[in-house]
Amino acid sequence: MNHKEFESKIKRVLISEEEIHNRIREVGSQVSQAYDGKPLLLVSILKGAYVFLADFSRAVSCPHKIAFMCAKSYYENTSSAGVVNITMDLDIDISGYHVLIIEDIIDTGRTLKNVLNLLKARNPQSIKVITLLDKPERRKVELEADISLFTIPDHFVIGYGLDCAEYYRNLPYIAEYDET
Ligand code: IMP
Ligand code: MG
Repeated sequence: MNHKEFESKIKRVLISEEEIHNRIREVGSQVSQAYDGKPLLLVSILKGAYVFLADFSRAVSCPHKIAFMCAKSYYENTSSAGVVNITMDLDIDISGYHVLIIEDIIDTGRTLKNVLNLLKARNPQSIKVITLLDKPERRKVELEADISLFTIPDHFVIGYGLDCAEYYRNLPYIAEYDET
């Protein structure tokens, strides 16, 4: 793929770089106030959330640690949460921490539901979910983020960490992908 082909699939910018950073500053300062003085751990699910985590972590001024995990979900039927396969686990014992899961997008909700149940079983002091994007129309399992930065309609989106076949993660904004 060359640059021209790459650009031809970017239909339109849905959320600009500036809008993303403004919301991150807002939520980052809420979190900084709420968790100051508490042991805080930001957990990011790879790969999609790596850009969001990098910016969000720098918008949180209170002391905190970060950790990563990689998860894949499998399900028996279309409405079940199925089972989650952890392909890379956290390198830290989360009991004793207030955990914030930092996610790129909640679509059907399956991945996050599984990860949330798994992490709850490890007895963190508390656990909440912050998602950059939420596509509520697509939900297959009951799950809501504690904080969602943007709610979007049912479009396939790319950029700011989100991919299409592993490309487009490097776009600094969120765009609609041209599926034609
Ligand atoms: P869920 O288990 O269906 O909620 O899956 C969420 C995962 O699917 C996200 O972490 C993304 O990696 C991927 N995903 C869902 N919707 C999109 C999209 O519009 N663009 C890119 N990736 C997406
Ligand atoms: Mg993906």
